This record gives sequence, C-alpha cells and structure tokens, in this order.
Amino acid sequence: MVDILRFLKGQRKIVALTAYDYSMAQILPDCGVDVLLVGDSLGMVVLGYNSTHFVTIEDMIRHTQAVMRGEAKASGSSLVVADMPIGTCDTPKSALKHCRRMVAETEVKAVKIEGNAEVCKVVIDSGIAVMGHTGLKPQTAQKMGICGKQTKEAQAIFDEAIALEKAGCFALVLECVPSSLAKRITEKLSIPTIGIGAGPDCDGQILVTHDILGLFTDFQPKFVKQYGNVRQSIEKAVRGFVGEVKSGVFPGDVHHS
Ligand code: KIV
Repeated sequence: MVDILRFLKGQRKIVALTAYDYSMAQILPDCGVDVLLVGDSLGMVVLGYNSTHFVTIEDMIRHTQAVMRGEAKASGSSLVVADMPIGTCDTPKSALKHCRRMVAETEVKAVKIEGNAEVCKVVIDSGIAVMGHTGLKPQTAQKMGICGKQTKEAQAIFDEAIALEKAGCFALVLECVPSSLAKRITEKLSIPTIGIGAGPDCDGQILVTHDILGLFTDFQPKFVKQYGNVRQSIEKAVRGFVGEVKSGVFPGDVHHS
C-alpha cells in the first residue's frame, strides 16, 4: 500500500482524509479514499481541546486501533497512517521507542512524524514506513497560518522536503505553504506530496473529515471545502427521536417483544 502511493504520483491524484473511529473507517475506503490518517487533529475535533498539544500516545494508539478494526471491515482498502503526537518524536531515541510502540500495539503499516529528517531516518531504518510533514507544523508552530512566504523560510521548507525524501519518507504532507512553493517541491521530489492548504499542484490532497462533513464548526480554515452538512442530518434525526419519545410514538410495537 505504501508503494502504491509512490506509483500513483503522476498517474492520478491521491485522496486522503482523517479518520478517528471504527464506523468512519468502514465507510471511507469504500468511497475511494487512498489514505486514512489518524491525525492528532482528533485533539480538536473529537476530544474538544483547542490544539493538538494535549493529545497523548495513548489517545493515538486507542484511535488507531479503532480505525484499523474499521478499515479491515470495509470492502475497499486504504492505507492507515498513525500520526505521532507532540513530544513523542523530539529525538531519534524517543521517536524510535514511540513509533515501535505504535506499530506493536496497532499493527499500523505507517506513521506520520512532524519531526526533522534525522528523526525520520532512524525510524525508517528500523523498518517502519514514515510519512513526513513540512510547512506548517502545528505541534511546534509559534503561530498558525501560511508558512514559506518569505524567501528564507521557503528555502528552509524546500530543503527540508528534500531531506525528508532522502531520509526515506514514502510521502510528504505539505501544510499551509504557498501553492508556488508546493508546486516546486512536488516537481522536485520523486515521492508524492499530499497538500493541505498548499494549492492544486500537490500529488494528493488531505482534509479533516469532520470539516468536509460540516461536523466541526469551532473554526474553519480558508482551505476547507464543506461537502455535506452532517450536523444538520444529526439534528434532524435526534429531534425526531426526542419528539417520538416524548409523544410516546417510540418504541412502537415492532421495537419490543
Ligand atoms: O492531524 C491532522 O489531521 C493532520 C493533517 C490534517 C495533515 O496532520
């Protein structure tokens, strides 16, 4: 599955979405989603924190296990990638320990690391497939927003992308960089780039599933497009239940013996 992504570069766009639970992980592969990222964005959209900073390795393991169980039940198949949370990949030694634990406890085939090339290389050399991440790195960023508008910062992101490929990453997330920079990186690398807020020229696109479904409404970045309003569907269904329980319509004869 990791190799398929590399093969898809230049053939067709790669589609990635976040998944955090069993039910969603059963649905997305059957819709043609190539990659299910168990993102640390679960800190906001599932756990209700205001950043990814409070997400623990135990949170990520628990949710990755659920996604693995769901993906296995789907008719289609997707590559599940587990995001390594803040504080787990600060040094090569720590990254190795935590990535090994993630793989051992979830059987996930790949992890995503918001760390540098040196950290990624040690994990890759141990036999674990790593998706790199450059541009905006929410775990360590001083402020959220577009990165690489200034020449020096753009060059640092470009250099890091090359270093991450050299380290052996099988794909690279490019978050919140100008589309011209994402295009330059995508053309330079032989591994696929997966963009989020990085324009149309990346080899693939990823968004947070709760954002495209209209389920998470605390804030919406400019790069998000909402494709459905699941919140409205939930409200309609729940209001129906509330009304029928209060009026005594539910449970009907067929719902009990
Ligand atoms: O945690 C996450 O959801 C992510 C992506 C959106 C790239 O890292």
